[in-house]
Amino acid sequence: MIQLEHVSKTFGGAESGVHAVRDVSLKIEAGEIFGIIGYSGAGKSTLVRCINLLERPTEGTVTVDGRELTRMPERELRQERKKISMIFQHFNLMPSRTVAQNVAFPLKGSALTAEQQAGKVKALLELVGLPDKAGAYPSQLSGGQKQRVAIARALASDPKVLLCDEATSALDPQTTRSILRLIQDINRKTGITVVIITHEMAVVKDVCQRVAVMDGGRVVEMGDVFSIFSTPREAVTRSFIATTSNLSKVEELIEAGSPMVELKPGEMIVRMTYTRKNVSEAIISDISRRFGIDINIIYSNLEVIEDAPLGGLVAILSGDRVQEALEYWTSKNVRAEVLKRG
Ligand SMILES: Nc1ncnc2c1ncn2[C@@H]1O[C@H](COP(=O)(O)OP(=O)(O)OP(=O)(O)O)[C@@H](O)[C@H]1O
Ligand SMILES: [Mg+2]
Repeated sequence: MIQLEHVSKTFGGAESGVHAVRDVSLKIEAGEIFGIIGYSGAGKSTLVRCINLLERPTEGTVTVDGRELTRMPERELRQERKKISMIFQHFNLMPSRTVAQNVAFPLKGSALTAEQQAGKVKALLELVGLPDKAGAYPSQLSGGQKQRVAIARALASDPKVLLCDEATSALDPQTTRSILRLIQDINRKTGITVVIITHEMAVVKDVCQRVAVMDGGRVVEMGDVFSIFSTPREAVTRSFIATTSNLSKVEELIEAGSPMVELKPGEMIVRMTYTRKNVSEAIISDISRRFGIDINIIYSNLEVIEDAPLGGLVAILSGDRVQEALEYWTSKNVRAEVLKRG
């Protein structure tokens, strides 16, 4: 659905300018929910604005739904852009118009009759769960409701692609989840392709199938969400993941000489993490029983992504056969790192 080839965007001159996006190539499949994550200034918004040519790339080509936008004349491009909608952090609703008028806005100049337009607006407001707010003004709505209106408006032109630039960043965690559920729901019902920019790894984990990590204008890492979380390659990716997990906190405890991590001879601190999609085997009690190991859990951070356990735990292991137990874990695709030995 979306194909970027060697896309770069430089603001200002080539010498002194800002290289916001550098040589990005990626493909996003139809019906996919694709995440883009990165720190502030990484180039996420610029990259996504290149998808609908709100920013024209300095180099490279952009193809959406099989049509290369970067070579189209302006008039054709305007038509083609209707296939691509966008929602933003601050909703961008028109304050002097009602909810219904906001949602109807993209229908202006369409072939639909006034009656058909009204019917469409009604259906869209039902879809986003606001059937009773048609006559309200944006100022009378909560943030979550405003974003629902923005989503309804974005869908009015029957787009094939929905771009979400920090669409949940201004919302509390619970409202964030409800908006993400709505986007997921619409994706399932309509097959719309969704691109979500965020700096919250939790958002990626919640709804995306694949994710690209941006740093300094480049895509430094890309893959399905499970592998990015379980086996991140880049330091920037690891630091993002660390924000959603407590498994690296043990290093601080060790450094600080906390009594929590004082070891007797024979004991060791081990961090175990799932690296592949294991079926949920009882790998903890298993080594305990099989090898006579005592396991004292210090941290744990486990959740389920794509129907497989992701994350792991940090524990003090003791027993004569710890080494064998660790080898057994390795054979089960579980990574075991010894962090400290007693
Ligand atoms: N119109 C512009 N003119 C000049 N520089 C720009 C322009 N837009 C963005 N930039 C620069 O390009 C770089 C990437 O900005 P961009 O907004 O894409 O980052 P971002 O990853 O979306 O950041 P954030 O998470 O803060 O939204 C930044 O250094 C920014 O200052
Ligand atoms: Mg941005």
